[in-house]
Amino acid sequence: MSSFKDLRIVDNFYQTSSFFPMPTVCISTINPDGSLNIGSYSLCFPYYIAGKNRYAMLLECRNTSNTCQNLLRTHKCAINFIPDDRKTFREAVRLGFPGPSAEKMKDLKFEMEKGQADPDDPQRPPVISSAYQVFECTWAAELEGADRFRVEDIDDGHPGPYNDFNGITSKYGAHFILYVDKILMKEKYYDAIVNGVNKNSFPPVPVDYGYRDSTNFWYTPFPRLRKPVAEPIPAPKEVDLASIRFAADRVDDTVKFTDDALKNFVKVPRPFLKTVLNGCVAWAKENDVTLITDKEVKIINDKRNAEKQARRK
Ligand SMILES: Cc1cc2nc3c(=O)[nH]c(=O)nc-3n(C[C@H](O)[C@H](O)[C@H](O)COP(=O)(O)O)c2cc1C
Repeated sequence: MSSFKDLRIVDNFYQTSSFFPMPTVCISTINPDGSLNIGSYSLCFPYYIAGKNRYAMLLECRNTSNTCQNLLRTHKCAINFIPDDRKTFREAVRLGFPGPSAEKMKDLKFEMEKGQADPDDPQRPPVISSAYQVFECTWAAELEGADRFRVEDIDDGHPGPYNDFNGITSKYGAHFILYVDKILMKEKYYDAIVNGVNKNSFPPVPVDYGYRDSTNFWYTPFPRLRKPVAEPIPAPKEVDLASIRFAADRVDDTVKFTDDALKNFVKVPRPFLKTVLNGCVAWAKENDVTLITDKEVKIINDKRNAEKQARRK
């Protein structure tokens, strides 16, 4: 017998038919009159994370929201990650109440400052000074021809036809694929990312569960006494040299590896081995090398580490 009950899946299942842990972000955009709007969002996740020429987030929102309509017009937004404290979350819930922008924005409690992407573009919204990080984004309006949607067509929702992934996706729904133009980070957390994190260097973040009833928005505060704990990932199993030799001999006709070179790869997880070997071959070809020894692997590793460091700056 199953230890679970089969729960009916209804609209907004992530908050009505389940307990789904979510981040809380406040999205700033520019209204048609040039003023600032901020709406609160949780359905906002990484979308393109690697292997594309740009990185992107996905935002799911109501198409009648100010945020959606501003994004359709300006294509720009800033995703402000708010730190966890009661007052800040209260302000996020206030900014999450549907209605005209001017009404809620006149009592805004957040301090704002200029972002860093395209400083002269008036459509680039300011960012929340107390955010621990901010993603400055541009909507990928060209994907799925989503630039055809017009704010003027939204009244009581949008009459359609709808897109599947990007733009207006249902009568009241919208999805936005948002290219990440810049990640702004507070210095303390910047240092942690660049120099290595420890249990004291994580920003306090709220985890929210959405609206569970018609009166409350539920969330768990960051545990103040219990810091984040590190759970070690399994130690990579050493692969025997023969199987690495088998793969290395098939990577390229002209570039070969010595056993000493291959010993460097015994801890590389199997799914990444071919990529690592291909990387070495590419380097060898660029440098007219036909035999990769331990010495060449060290040079390649140093070069990769230097590139990684440069990317972090
Ligand atoms: C913490 C929090 C998270 C929310 N997440 C979402 C969300 O992911 N998508 C959505 O459509 N509405 C979400 N809402 C409701 C929106 O904030 C609400 O529709 C609001 O009117 C949006 O503001 P805007 O019209 O200024 O964009 C959330 C509200 C709160 C308080």
